[in-house]
Amino acid sequence: MDVLAGLPEATILRDFESLEPFLRDESHVRGVPPLAVVKPHGPKALRELVRRAKAEGFGLVPRGAGTGKAGGCVPTERTVIVDFSEWPGDLRVSPQDLCLSAPASAPLREVKAAAEAEGLFYPPDPNSWESCALGGTLATNAGGPNACKYGMTRHWVLSVDALLEDGELHTFGIHSVKANAGPSLGQLLIGSEGIFGFIVGATLRLTPLPREFATLLLPVKRWEDLLDLPGRLCGAGFLPSAFEFFDPAVLAELRAHGPEAARRLPGEALAILEFDDRGCTSEAFLEGLLDLLGPVADGLEIASDARQRQGIWAVRRMTSAFLKERHPGKVSEDIVVPRSRLREFFEGLDRLDFPSISYGHLGDGNLHVNLLAAGETEPARLERQLMDLFRLSISLGGALSGEHGIGLAKRDAFLALSDPGQIAALRAIKQALDSCGIFNPGKVI
Ligand code: MLT
Ligand code: ZN
Repeated sequence: MDVLAGLPEATILRDFESLEPFLRDESHVRGVPPLAVVKPHGPKALRELVRRAKAEGFGLVPRGAGTGKAGGCVPTERTVIVDFSEWPGDLRVSPQDLCLSAPASAPLREVKAAAEAEGLFYPPDPNSWESCALGGTLATNAGGPNACKYGMTRHWVLSVDALLEDGELHTFGIHSVKANAGPSLGQLLIGSEGIFGFIVGATLRLTPLPREFATLLLPVKRWEDLLDLPGRLCGAGFLPSAFEFFDPAVLAELRAHGPEAARRLPGEALAILEFDDRGCTSEAFLEGLLDLLGPVADGLEIASDARQRQGIWAVRRMTSAFLKERHPGKVSEDIVVPRSRLREFFEGLDRLDFPSISYGHLGDGNLHVNLLAAGETEPARLERQLMDLFRLSISLGGALSGEHGIGLAKRDAFLALSDPGQIAALRAIKQALDSCGIFNPGKVI
């Protein structure tokens, strides 16, 4: 029986070739063939999909641009992919309310550009910001380098438009930062990875656009010298808008095989620091910063113009894809530890019995630990290695994901390593909001 026959307001893909690209995202996990891919054009399609999913017992897997890193949007057994790329709606900026409304289908780069055109800033900047969709960033609570100062996606969401089990659209939240009429269902949906319902749009908080940037390339002779720096900077009142790093192994890969600009990168290890506060390019600010850095600052380079700044960021932004191309079987993890525990984390990582290389967001302790040999490692062994990595992070007050989420890739580890009370509470919420289990089954919990 064709469970999608006559579905209104939707594009439907069913042939094997069209479904193939939907089996994966940017993570290392792969899904099973879905029943179909549906691209809804309006609420009628979603309402009808929900009705049929409940009646026929199939699941609905939301998908944005497929750039997720945890397998949250890959199909599981007997599911239909609901691809939001054709969901309608306009971008609307309200400078007076410092907010922007957009549909889930809006490309994040267009959201950021629309804010900028009004002299405003929407800070979330996952590495995929030029190719991802707003809806995916909301569902996964995406992070990025700027999270160091500005926080994650959830800190920038005022209200959420969502479709729940009743098949109806609801708006949770208002267009103001002050909204305290009861617990926030909108915030419950942000980062829920589609397991409670579908996010179809949102109103986002904006802030004035920073106009001044101090972008610093900080090479160090001894890699360990970087590890106390995030805590020392914050402790002394310096809050970078980004603090990224390459460990010696990543830096060596970039230097040996990366693009021209990467071949000249100095140091045993390297950090990219950026400040965007007014006055951050003043002599007084930079002197204070150099004083604090002390001898670690030997070799510091400061971008002198926008072109140099872009060049530095281009190398950082291509690192993930570059390493993937060189090591297609690698697994890139996403653990996080408080910045005051970074040194202990890397000491612990050295003691684990597998090689890894790391880069990422040192300033907020969110580290992309990459297991390059994952593809050639026996699956049970790889799982043990990942569990050891997660346990280490958790033992230091951290978590097994800082920004990519749980999805399918980390579900087993999340269930095994979380407080059972937390899992029970999440399952109770899931049961209350999705009693038929139609929303993204098999993910997260
Ligand atoms: C990045 O920051 O480059 C991405 O989040 C990392 C990744 O590919 O794991
Ligand atoms: Zn990242």
